[in-house]
Amino acid sequence: MTEPTNLTTELLQSLDSQFIHPWEDMQEIGVQKRTMLSHSDGIYVYDSDGNKLMDAPAGMWCLNIGHQVREMADAIHAQVMQLPYNSPWNLASQPAALLASKLAELSPGDLNHVFFTTGGSTAVDSALRFVGFYNNLRGKPNKRHILSHENGYHGSTFLASSASGKAGDKKHLNLDTTHFHQLRNPNYHANHRDLPQHKAGQPEHSIDEAAFCDVLIEELHQRINSLGAENIAAFIAEPVLASGGVVVTPEGYLKRCAQVCRANDILVIADEVVTAFGRLGHFFASEDVFGITPDLITTAKGITSGYIPLGALLISDRLLDELASIDTEHSVFANGFTYSGHPVACAAALKNIDIIERQGLLDNVQNLAPYFQQQLRTLNDIPIVNNVRGMGLMACVECVEIEVPGDTRTIGERIDQYCQAAGLIVRPIYNMCVMSPPLTINKTQIDDLVRMLRAGIEQACRDVMPK
Ligand SMILES: Cc1ncc(COP(=O)(O)O)c(C=O)c1O
Repeated sequence: MTEPTNLTTELLQSLDSQFIHPWEDMQEIGVQKRTMLSHSDGIYVYDSDGNKLMDAPAGMWCLNIGHQVREMADAIHAQVMQLPYNSPWNLASQPAALLASKLAELSPGDLNHVFFTTGGSTAVDSALRFVGFYNNLRGKPNKRHILSHENGYHGSTFLASSASGKAGDKKHLNLDTTHFHQLRNPNYHANHRDLPQHKAGQPEHSIDEAAFCDVLIEELHQRINSLGAENIAAFIAEPVLASGGVVVTPEGYLKRCAQVCRANDILVIADEVVTAFGRLGHFFASEDVFGITPDLITTAKGITSGYIPLGALLISDRLLDELASIDTEHSVFANGFTYSGHPVACAAALKNIDIIERQGLLDNVQNLAPYFQQQLRTLNDIPIVNNVRGMGLMACVECVEIEVPGDTRTIGERIDQYCQAAGLIVRPIYNMCVMSPPLTINKTQIDDLVRMLRAGIEQACRDVMPK
């Protein structure tokens, strides 16, 4: 526990104003006061005034095993006392070796080698660097273009944010817009109307999900044709677009994308930073849920349940064998981090996987996900709720975008404030509330979550709907 413990919330918030938080609005430095957390337990956190709050986003898609798990703390402590750090360049450690082998066992297909990173962004960055390195070594230096999705999110390094597709995040940052290309957001609900292909002469512009999927695949073909397959290195996709609003892609979409990519010598990178380690009821979702075996998988977050930062890039044997067979003088992949394979982080990941296995958390997700999804859909009767969607223990309640004159808060922020007052944290993203509770959640807690969320949304609804 950090000392001292007798500081008031107000004082802590004023000290915190010197912490530039992620996605900080420069106009709001020192203005915005965040809820100050003090401690946590299970699926709950407590603020510095002692209020108990259900942690519905599990931090930030992280705390899969829940908060304050004693045996996790013990494993971290034991590793610190055993070996707190080693250079990953010329030395190796037991936790990193065991974890690499465990990940190879859990991952699909021939993804049997692991490059450890410090989090999700560095895993994605390493994947994109590896893809370039691979193509250069095999004599295809023109293959430099990367396909991803509008509204996708892949992290905050230069390459990862260039691959990301949220328009609002691209402002003022000098990202690479030459080699990175975003395909249409595969959100059926938001995008199935007014597609250019279906406008001409048709009274009804909306199409069903299967036809929407056909449009997306047709656009993928068109993009490949216009850029030239010989110039495209990789396609990177989140199996479910997480921060883009829990977008569940149309049935069969990812499989068809993977087939098109394979046929065009384009590598497939599954960004499983969110979807792995049980969030969708499996250790990895690519094959078990979506039927694809990617060439590369990136992961982080749930790998240690967020207790210690760690990321990983899994690479298929096919690619490594191909590189090994190339006769070249210099084939060093000059990429790596001081903390690659950090022994304490790897020990935490091993314990995390052990807990997920022993406590049957994958089964818990598979059993409870239908109930979780169905209960959240009962919120559809609230007038401002536009769409409720999700998969596994990932969900999004999207509301209509309504502004209140003289109030700069988004509808999501408004709901979040009301929910927090009722005892629930949801993650507001503009007009959406995104949730991904710890995998340990039970039915009663799901009922509580939905009850508090309903109260928060209804209160926001009363604010913004005409009387
Ligand atoms: C799908 C996805 N990829 C990559 C990242 C980046 O991970 P990190 O924030 O650990 O760098 C995130 C973070 O939310 C993510 O959701």
